[in-house]
Amino acid sequence: MTGAPGSPAVSRRGLLAAGALTAGGALAGGAAVAVGTGRPDAPATPPVPVAAVGTAVEPFHGARQAGIATEPQAHAAFVAFTLRPATDRAALGRLLRLLSDDAARLTQGRPALADTEAELGLLPARLTVTFGFGPGLYRAAGLDDRRPASVVDLPSFRIDRLQPAWSGGDLLLQICADDPITVAHAQRVLVKDSRPFATVRWVQQGFRRSPGVEAGGHTQRNLFGQLDGTANPQPGTPLDTAVWIPDGPPWLRDGSTLVVRRIRMDMETWDLLGRTDRELAVGRRLDTGAPLTGTAERDEPDFAATDESGLTVIPDFSHLTRAHVTDDRFRILRRPYNYDGVPAADGSADSGLVFAAYQADIERQFLPIQRRLAERDLLNEWTTPIGSAVFAVPPGCPAGGWIGEQLLG
Ligand code: HEM
Repeated sequence: MTGAPGSPAVSRRGLLAAGALTAGGALAGGAAVAVGTGRPDAPATPPVPVAAVGTAVEPFHGARQAGIATEPQAHAAFVAFTLRPATDRAALGRLLRLLSDDAARLTQGRPALADTEAELGLLPARLTVTFGFGPGLYRAAGLDDRRPASVVDLPSFRIDRLQPAWSGGDLLLQICADDPITVAHAQRVLVKDSRPFATVRWVQQGFRRSPGVEAGGHTQRNLFGQLDGTANPQPGTPLDTAVWIPDGPPWLRDGSTLVVRRIRMDMETWDLLGRTDRELAVGRRLDTGAPLTGTAERDEPDFAATDESGLTVIPDFSHLTRAHVTDDRFRILRRPYNYDGVPAADGSADSGLVFAAYQADIERQFLPIQRRLAERDLLNEWTTPIGSAVFAVPPGCPAGGWIGEQLLG
């Protein structure tokens, strides 16, 4: 589907008017600067509000790991490691004890042991560190029989253009916080402490809206400008049913599984689409996020509604139709982050999603959706998966315990 170019031509007159506005803005900016110059007639600069964002804390200890049901923070680094050949079950235990201790301290606003930049450990900004175990970790520990069955490389899909540089991993640390310095510091500490046991395989950084930019409760927007996350299972029973493994052996109970896909978004060809075509591709409106058959973001889509020409209002191959799930047991929790790398020399963007999906069972929940999307989804025209990795997410740990203890201890 190709549409007419979306943006109306900008007239010379319009540009001149915009220039005049900018000049006005610059003048106003100049006046604002004078306020803080200390002139006797200038009003005092208002006091800086208490840094509530920086001091906010998410719990580390508990039955379930943080960073999953946690309201997504603004910044993330997904760090995947390859275990060194000598890292066996005992060494893995030492590594995870160490990393759990680092995470327990840093998430609570305390520097890690022997923290070389201790001052950077004091503002946790809702830091969470979530551990994931890739298929290779179970092998390294000699515990392949305990690997959850669905934690294996995903089958390949015809839409995939996977690059080894963004795929696989034995151990994953998903580091999230509302401040990028906090994330960078936590990453530095955790990577340093992993060195004797593992090498860094890939790091994917991502971002969402910063706290305070809009009122709470808003769905985030991705770099196509779409509201992304509307149909996620809501906190409470729907989310619990979708995400957490309810039973089974102790090393799985209250755990989950995670799929990380790096999905490139082709901003250049997306730019060529008009607004209507963009909305048809997803099946939702760009401004409100409402389904094309409704007026509000949370309205139920009506997939049977037809227009005057007899076509369904929401196209059969829209992303919404293909991805839609009604049964809570088959939902997935999407917790994606936008990425925006360095543009190519010709200015074309390096943008996309670090698509992270949590679910109790990849085979039962994620794969059927991904198969339907790979088979036919209008959005495939402008998106390409270029990385893929799967992890089991072990349960949390109590104070004094460590992540993975139920499996390796
Ligand atoms: C760059 C790639 C993608 C983009 C830009 C994208 C964007 C969106 C948007 C805008 C919506 C509608 C609003 C919402 O409910 O969040 C949506 C819904 C959804 N997407 Fe995606 N998506 C992408 C990839 C994927 C992938 C790989 C999967 C899973 C395999 C997926 C699964 C879903 C699901 C389950 C829904 C909710 C459908 C429903 O029940 O209404 N998406 N996506």
